[in-house]
Amino acid sequence: MTFRAGVRFAFRHLARLLAAVLLLTAVGAALTACQPKATAAGDPMAIVARTVDDHSYARPQEARVTHVDLDLTADFDRKVLKGTAGLTLSTQANARQVVLDTKALAIQSVTDASGLPLKYTLGQNDAMMGQPLTVELPQGAQKIVVHYETTQDGTALQWLDPSQTAGKKLPFLFSQGEEINTRTWIPTQDSPAIRQTYTARIVVPSSLMAVMSADRQTPSGEAVPGHANQRAYRFDMTHPIAPYLIALAVGDLGFKAEGDRTGVYAEKAVLDKAAYEFADMQSMLDAAEKLYGPYPWGRYDVLVLPPSFPYGGMENPTLTFATPTVLAGDRSLVSLVAHELAHSWSGNLVTNATWEDFWLNEGFTNYFENRIMEQVYGKDNADMLKVLNYGDLQETLKGLKDNPEFTKLHPDLKGVDPDDYFSDIPYEKGASFLRMLEAHFGRKTFDAYLRGYFSRYAFHSMTTEAFLVDLRQNLLHNDAGLEKELKIQDWVYGPGLPDNVVVPTSPVFATVDGQVTAFIGGADPKTLDTASYNTQEWQYFLSKLPDTLTLDQMTALDNAFAFSKTHNSEILFEWLILAIKHHYAPAMTPLHDFLVGQGRMKFCVPLYQQLMLQPGWGVDMAKKIYAEARPGYHELTRVRVDAVVR
Ligand code: BES
Ligand code: ZN
Repeated sequence: MTFRAGVRFAFRHLARLLAAVLLLTAVGAALTACQPKATAAGDPMAIVARTVDDHSYARPQEARVTHVDLDLTADFDRKVLKGTAGLTLSTQANARQVVLDTKALAIQSVTDASGLPLKYTLGQNDAMMGQPLTVELPQGAQKIVVHYETTQDGTALQWLDPSQTAGKKLPFLFSQGEEINTRTWIPTQDSPAIRQTYTARIVVPSSLMAVMSADRQTPSGEAVPGHANQRAYRFDMTHPIAPYLIALAVGDLGFKAEGDRTGVYAEKAVLDKAAYEFADMQSMLDAAEKLYGPYPWGRYDVLVLPPSFPYGGMENPTLTFATPTVLAGDRSLVSLVAHELAHSWSGNLVTNATWEDFWLNEGFTNYFENRIMEQVYGKDNADMLKVLNYGDLQETLKGLKDNPEFTKLHPDLKGVDPDDYFSDIPYEKGASFLRMLEAHFGRKTFDAYLRGYFSRYAFHSMTTEAFLVDLRQNLLHNDAGLEKELKIQDWVYGPGLPDNVVVPTSPVFATVDGQVTAFIGGADPKTLDTASYNTQEWQYFLSKLPDTLTLDQMTALDNAFAFSKTHNSEILFEWLILAIKHHYAPAMTPLHDFLVGQGRMKFCVPLYQQLMLQPGWGVDMAKKIYAEARPGYHELTRVRVDAVVR
């Protein structure tokens, strides 16, 4: 750490300490005044209020952003967004500064609401955090306006050339905020505990449509006076959300309704396919509401992105962003929609307050996703999904055996990029923890608790510690003996999996096990009883095959089931992993096409890793394919694959 950085950090922490002391004094005074039931340490929201987010420069106790008003023009020639972000502030009486998060932004000026310039300084750049933008506030200032444009070094925006889209004729732009990328396209306080409403006016070429994670007020845009070749789109998010959920996409989009509150946006070239795939969205939404209370966001739509989208899905409010790799043609991968829909409660309504609390988003959501799947598609299907996830969790735990910190639900991420912690742990260990509670208390009691949790903390952010206080108050009824018996502390703060985990089982998969055994024992694949297999059974079948098959066995499998030709991304992925391990040459062209044709991290990273484990031919092939594929990948995928292929 440099001297300047050291001073900066010391100052930042001193300022926060001061703010926390002030707050605690205030909370203390308030408590003595009205004597509520909970003590300061026992009030979940007081715990959240004094929590520091180590991944933001903001000092919200002094001055906090409450609303963002964007006025941005998408310049597809220069590949920048340019315009203004008007920020509404809530300040302490004596606040003299507001500190924003920025990264890779070109700041032109900062003004007050009337356009008068304000003094500001951009602090030193940190590779992970970016630069604090400190603005001097006039007495009583409630609004500031940042004039800026984005740069090529940001990670949130991907500008796609026409060749990278389905339509091939027009360009495309999309944003990805989670976890700490929003600061690379919006200068605001980029912390999930600093909730903000937002409005936006986005100007785009008139051949394109803009959509955002908000109420879409001008579905076909409006004219821009003096600019016949442009249109403007307006958006309004009236609920306070975490800034990582502000999202934008611009492309040659069409829309097709599914139900009265649900529908699909996609490039026109894939719209029909997408609408077919997600036909059950409305049933999922109805099922989710029955479980956890009314859907609070108005519409629920899905936007299918071009294949370079680095994630499977992203739960942007009112508008889930999704990879086209789930368009299997048979609706077999739609648990992804159940997952992103579930985030409307776990994540968007009640939000992780820091990235160390990420499991509160993803663990709850994986649990909730499976409940929706069970409701809509039945218990057999839901059980299969649980078993597949549990298998992945076991693999992940093995892979992390030298890094116990990252097997905790609540890891220490000080100075660590939250992306580095991304794994099955927050998702599936988190869901397993909730399933353990469900098994102990029964569904009726546990569902009632979860419904209460979402309504108690709606539109608030939550820490792990505050959640545990709530759990003690409302589910464990302060029974310390029971807390011990259920190993709550081990689950949340300990490494690995406690031994009271409920291991999921699937009767359907038990019959698949039989077929795997028969095949390994020498049976011709054509004689196996697989005619009725669905996608999950194939995934399970492939995941159970050993690394020691002969080339003849690989060939027989491919001849019988045409895995190398499948268009189902999950089945193809499992097959390609097996193919690399066995040096199965006929799958290498499909492998190449898959890695060049899409950029979803979950598929790309393990495939390159597997190639790199094969000295000589594998390493060479990884390098050759990556050289071709890299320009088309999202920056977030590039960073991950760069670390693997070298
Ligand atoms: N919120 C995540 C995506 C995410 C996580 C983006 C961390 C950036 C940082 C999303 O809800 C998610 O979990 N997506 C999964 C799919 C899901 C079905 C498990 C994915 O992208 O694979
Ligand atoms: Zn998720």
